[in-house]
Amino acid sequence: MNVDRRKVKRQHGRDVMEMTPDDFDAVLATEAQVHAQPWTRGQFQDSFSAGHSMWIMRKAGVMVGYAVTMAVVDEVHLLNISVPADSQGHGHGSALLSYMIEQAWQEDAKRVLLEVRPSNVAALALYARCGFKEIGRRRSYYATFNGREDAIVMARELS
Ligand SMILES: CC(C)(COP(=O)(O)OP(=O)(O)OC[C@H]1O[C@@H](n2cnc3c(N)ncnc32)[C@H](O)[C@@H]1OP(=O)(O)O)[C@@H](O)C(=O)NCCC(=O)NCCS
Repeated sequence: MNVDRRKVKRQHGRDVMEMTPDDFDAVLATEAQVHAQPWTRGQFQDSFSAGHSMWIMRKAGVMVGYAVTMAVVDEVHLLNISVPADSQGHGHGSALLSYMIEQAWQEDAKRVLLEVRPSNVAALALYARCGFKEIGRRRSYYATFNGREDAIVMARELS
């Protein structure tokens, strides 16, 4: 029997736990499903080796999201947040991002930073809902199918 011994925290009726390499298959399946440029196994492995914070969220045993953050001095950078396509629109992304913000606050971070494509309306709605504000743009940051797209840089101050 495969017993999961990870420490589990409850967040709005969901379970949040640290991601381990055992989760990579499920995470990579979602990456391929929801991202135009999915992270590779190597990128998740590199984040794991670098000690980035990596979380998965489950509801009734089913993975409903995951996120990766990197602490840089007193800032936390959100590198990835994703919800499987068939679980989107049920508040899982909001619950997971709220958890990440709470974690950053507990670690005395001053703010959480992220980059997002202007075309990503779902992510923009999620970030606005969780208190992120635009603080700048990076020109031609992302590749698209027919050129380049800016990145919106957003911050959530923690005071
Ligand atoms: C962005 C993402 C994580 C949101 O997760 P989610 O679980 O669907 O989000 P929630 O259900 O908590 O909804 C959060 C907000 O986004 C809005 N939203 C969700 N899906 C949306 C969609 N397809 N279009 C417009 N708004 C959407 C919700 O209405 C809600 O806003 P509200 O509070 O104003 O109503 C999810 O859509 C996703 O995984 N997208 C692909 C990966 C990605 O783009 N990640 C972010 C960049 S790394």
